[in-house]
Amino acid sequence: MTQTDPAAPVYCAPANAAEAGRVDIRTVRSNPDYWYPVAWSREVKPGKTIGTRYAGLPIALVRPKEGPVFALEDRCAHRQVPLSKGEVKGDSVKCCYHGWAYGRSGRCIDVPYLARASSPTGCAPFPAASRMG
Ligand code: FES
Repeated sequence: MTQTDPAAPVYCAPANAAEAGRVDIRTVRSNPDYWYPVAWSREVKPGKTIGTRYAGLPIALVRPKEGPVFALEDRCAHRQVPLSKGEVKGDSVKCCYHGWAYGRSGRCIDVPYLARASSPTGCAPFPAASRMG
């Protein structure tokens, strides 16, 4: 991959990603023992979330005001609304549509109109780290 614009977001994907579309990340030719850059650190501001992709899979990068960045599948478990459109509240991201909230593990930690004991499972988390920008 050649990058000519240093301000452009970094996007690393395996060779077959273009034909993959929305894929199960386990089926693309990526090595699970490697890390793949999906954004510049400066793009993920404290207290904000952004949407990105890896191998066609939408990912919400979330940087709480305190603590490290985390990554979740960019899809609310309720109605599939992108979590990257949501609001960061403490160590969680709150969906912009009906307000379901997800912690860094992807577990649904709050549904405004349900008792906590009956919260749904949540969405898929990904390992994430901010390194060298
Ligand atoms: S679509 Fe996210 S809470 Fe309903």
